[in-house]
Amino acid sequence: MVTLEEDKSGYINNMFARIAKSYDFLNLMMTLNMHKLWKKQAIDAASVNIPYVKKAKILDLCTGTGDMAFEWSKKLQVSKVMAIDSCIPMLERAERRQIKSKKSNSDKITFMEADALALPFPDNHFDAVTVGFGLRNVNDLDLALAEIYRVLKPEGYIASLDLGHPESGMVESFHKGVFLKLMPLLGQIFAGDKAAYKYLIDSLETWPKQKDLSQMFWDKGFTRSYYKNIFLGTIAIVVAQK
Ligand SMILES: C[S@@+](CC[C@H](N)C(=O)[O-])C[C@H]1O[C@@H](n2cnc3c(N)ncnc32)[C@H](O)[C@@H]1O
Repeated sequence: MVTLEEDKSGYINNMFARIAKSYDFLNLMMTLNMHKLWKKQAIDAASVNIPYVKKAKILDLCTGTGDMAFEWSKKLQVSKVMAIDSCIPMLERAERRQIKSKKSNSDKITFMEADALALPFPDNHFDAVTVGFGLRNVNDLDLALAEIYRVLKPEGYIASLDLGHPESGMVESFHKGVFLKLMPLLGQIFAGDKAAYKYLIDSLETWPKQKDLSQMFWDKGFTRSYYKNIFLGTIAIVVAQK
């Protein structure tokens, strides 16, 4: 029997498989390439302990086409980046980038098909974890946070970069009423897939506010958590330390 949960993850998987080819271009268009800067900021936030670790092991969840994994691989102290995703066409794009890359750093990355809700790694294994625009898509956020907690080493940091909820009502009205309405249109024009980019907006309905997501990390047992708003809270980085 197919359960509702399986239905949702199947839907998400199909959607990312459909848009895998145009995903990087759409990111560039929709954010004017600023997503790269936000990803670096999230990595910096998760890197607090990395200068003191000799051979750091990093986990990038929901890696997609691998932007954050490639960024992590540039750090000298990083010896291994496990970059996991549940969507094979997205991982294929990532692997193609790795093959084309002239930088030997990228050899530190292993791309792997895996579910963020059942990570195939031992407890207390990674020095840092990142996830970019990924937690919003998993069908059990609570379980995803529990898995992150489990695989992180004590004192390790996790940073989640994702859409946020603006704290000002005026900004929120403009963001929802004008900016987000453009997304399905851009999705239609550049990826030929309006539905996938309408999902992006719909997913915000159930996605917690950044302060609530930060509280969820505290509730899971993390010893500290905070968030940083970008663009008036339309984007947010939520950070937690085990
Ligand atoms: C919006 S993309 C983000 C990709 C990349 N992190 C970035 O920031 O560009 C979300 C990714 O999450 C992956 N994903 C969704 N649910 C997942 C799960 N349960 N386990 C692993 N990956 C998942 C999707 O396949 C997709 O590649």
